[in-house]
Amino acid sequence: MQIDKMNGKVLLANGKIADPVGEIIYDSDILIENGIIVRIEKGITPKDDMETINLNGQTISPGFVDLHVHFREPGFEDKETIESGCRAALAGGFTKVCCMPNTDPPIDTQESVRFIYRKAEGQIVDVFPIAAITKNRKGEELTEMVELSSAGAVGFSDDGNPVVNAQIMRFALEYSKIVNKPIINHAEDPALKADGYMNEGVVSTHLGIPGNPSIAEEIMIYRDLTLARFTNSRLHIPHVSTKASVALIRQAKANGVRVTAEATPHHFSLNDEYMRSFDANGKVSPPLRSEADRLSLIEGIQDGTIDAIATDHAPHQYDTKETSLDIASYGMIGLESAFGLSMTNLVHAGHISFIDLIKLLTIRPARAMNLPLPGIKVGEEANLTIVDPDEWWVFSRKDIYSRSQNTPFIGRELTGRVKSVFAKSSYIRLQD
Ligand code: DOR
Repeated sequence: MQIDKMNGKVLLANGKIADPVGEIIYDSDILIENGIIVRIEKGITPKDDMETINLNGQTISPGFVDLHVHFREPGFEDKETIESGCRAALAGGFTKVCCMPNTDPPIDTQESVRFIYRKAEGQIVDVFPIAAITKNRKGEELTEMVELSSAGAVGFSDDGNPVVNAQIMRFALEYSKIVNKPIINHAEDPALKADGYMNEGVVSTHLGIPGNPSIAEEIMIYRDLTLARFTNSRLHIPHVSTKASVALIRQAKANGVRVTAEATPHHFSLNDEYMRSFDANGKVSPPLRSEADRLSLIEGIQDGTIDAIATDHAPHQYDTKETSLDIASYGMIGLESAFGLSMTNLVHAGHISFIDLIKLLTIRPARAMNLPLPGIKVGEEANLTIVDPDEWWVFSRKDIYSRSQNTPFIGRELTGRVKSVFAKSSYIRLQD
């Protein structure tokens, strides 16, 4: 990764612009001056006072937005820091990320929200903290949500832990209306999950591994949708993983419930057959589900039920992953491989168009979390991700910038690659 500060004039020549708002792709150059887009036209003549970057037909998208990352700071800096997480984000083409509060201490006070902003100062990636719903993420007592919001929290979640008590969830949804920021509940009924650590089904039965049934997720999503309808509040459903969950969200949207939902690249790229490898990198919460679940997620992505692709980038050090499945940590990193997996398994597999994928990575997640909409317009800051949708490559350890390497996708052949990023007057070249 090479980062060059580029003040002055920069000409991105011979590119294609993917505009997710107008839903079009067109040939164009972009002239940037002091980090601001000043011209968008085909055939801008390079001049001596311009730094010219020849894109050779690569595609320029608004910078990608990831609603769901774990940057582990404070408390677990051996797994990830805000700085290393931002490098991983850039490597994946993400220029805006929302980080989850399951840190130590958790992000449940104004000071901890401000800590994240302070730590992210000077980074090329914008980091937006999601604050905890309940104090210490224990599910017992609500945080000071209005104060947390005024400190800059963009949403609320106890991610990793569900809010089990329906009364507390109801109150959280009611308070969230005051600040108009979504509640993001990790939907997993602990009693039904019991000690299951992979999807309950044929594969778990063959392997003799305790299963976590899909109903553990669905029952809680049903409850949360009911509460969101009753309170008329905004609910965002993270890492949707089952067929019935997709159906419930689809139905709720049709009934006017204010719900948005995300899917991760690992849930639409893998199924529970992966666990036959006994590779703990496939252990994730919620678990990799059946092929029927995976296909339903793709249908949800196709028909708009799923609003955003989010990585749930969850770094863990090797010692908590290179161990037996039952005691391994849950989670996998995802930022660096997200675009390649999405292009390969959604676009090149014929399920959605390229521009639809760009929407799922930019304007739709931004809307779900009320973040400033990334656009490519004259007068706006240049915040751009440049991709080659057709480049074939093999995802390898050298593509990883996270402090952790816990991914089941090493060695995967992918088609579609992030090539560079232009943001905050810096040009980031990702490969030689
Ligand atoms: O697999 C997961 N890992 N799922 C979560 O919800 C939390 C995450 C983590 O923090 O490691």
